[in-house]
Amino acid sequence: MKYLYLLLLATSVESGFWEDFYRILASQNAKRNLIYSPISAEIIMSMVYMASGGKTFEELRNVLKFSENKTLVANNYRSLLSDLKRRETFIILHMANRIYVNKKYCLVPEFNQLARKAFKAKAKSIRLDDPVSASAIVNSWILNRTRGMIRNIVLPKDFNSDTSAFLVNAIYFKGQWLYNFKADQTHIADFYVSANEIIPVKMMTLSASLLSGYIDDIDAKIIELPYWNSTLSMRIILPNSVDGLRKLKEKVGFIDYHLEKKSVNVKLPKFKIESKAQLKGIFENLGILDVFKPSADLNGLVLESGAKIDKIVQKAFLKIDEKGGEASAATGVLTRRKKSIDNLIQPPMEFIADHPFFYVIHDNKVIYFQGHIVEPRW
Ligand SMILES: *[C@@H]1O[C@H](CO)[C@@H](O)[C@H](O)[C@H]1NC(C)=O
Ligand SMILES: *[C@@H]1O[C@H](CO)[C@@H](O)[C@H](O)[C@H]1NC(C)=O
Ligand SMILES: *[C@@H]1O[C@H](CO)[C@@H](O)[C@H](O)[C@H]1NC(C)=O
Repeated sequence: MKYLYLLLLATSVESGFWEDFYRILASQNAKRNLIYSPISAEIIMSMVYMASGGKTFEELRNVLKFSENKTLVANNYRSLLSDLKRRETFIILHMANRIYVNKKYCLVPEFNQLARKAFKAKAKSIRLDDPVSASAIVNSWILNRTRGMIRNIVLPKDFNSDTSAFLVNAIYFKGQWLYNFKADQTHIADFYVSANEIIPVKMMTLSASLLSGYIDDIDAKIIELPYWNSTLSMRIILPNSVDGLRKLKEKVGFIDYHLEKKSVNVKLPKFKIESKAQLKGIFENLGILDVFKPSADLNGLVLESGAKIDKIVQKAFLKIDEKGGEASAATGVLTRRKKSIDNLIQPPMEFIADHPFFYVIHDNKVIYFQGHIVEPRW
């Protein structure tokens, strides 16, 4: 099994585009904690695809391997998002996507009918002659849509009156573990940021029967921590060596492994991350150029020509603690299932995340978040 199979709804898995995308983002953030949401980036680019025509359309289609049939692409997202809403009643996942267009352009009214239906998002026109109030408008919308969790997605310096359009995308997640870490066992422990830099962290402890495995290819271990009453789970890949993360990143998308339910003793630091990424440069790096040029064809979005996408900003927030998401009323703690005979024979796997690791929050279709922790902060 590929560990980043990232079943893309509209784009072809073979393209490897999103794996390259992550690799670039991870290198740019090698020394920082990273959280990024592939599904949100994909959704926002698909919205742009809906609006595109001519050469811009051809380029997006070729690079991202979108279906030529826009209705099909829109339908895929619509069913993904409504299925998610129906299925996941216990996790909280707020996704806020919006295309802002400079007020000097007129929006194509049909665009929002489509965007609302398929992507639960829309385009909005905004006055950009006053960057301070423009950024306040954008930030307060994001704050509202993420229930107060994500603030300051843009700064006044992000735009000026020449900006024609920009995309904002915020995602906030809160789940609860199926197997809670025991709060009274959380203790201060050393975390090796590198072989010679150690910081204190709040280390959590859990012993449970988990899907887990060894990945010999990259000299690493993997575990899966399921969320309670959800099809989502968090996979953590921990290199055996302190500085193994770099090697792992290069292999993203090409790793084979096998997961098996086994007893595992887990030590995982508590962490909180909020990271903001400017994604335009990475798209350009991977061959999407036209949509960012004055020659862009966005005739499905605005009536005039000359509008282009100036910025794509993504901000994501995640907090990992004993209960999984952020503190919420504790519902009944689930007791562990009986250990199977196998588990009693084999010694438990020791999974001690006291050095940089990679993680992904996913279900069998989609990657909601992925990133790495190099210096856990709480
Ligand atoms: C595009 O996809 C939709 C939805 O699957 C389908 O109904 C329609 O016939 C397709 N159009 C073309 C031109 O293939
Ligand atoms: C978000 O905005 C809606 C509609 O404007 C409002 O009803 C709601 O109370 C706001 N929520 C928060 C958390 O600010
Ligand atoms: C979540 O719980 C509800 C009711 O308790 C149940 O019907 C549903 O199947 C559960 N969903 C998952 C994904 O476990």
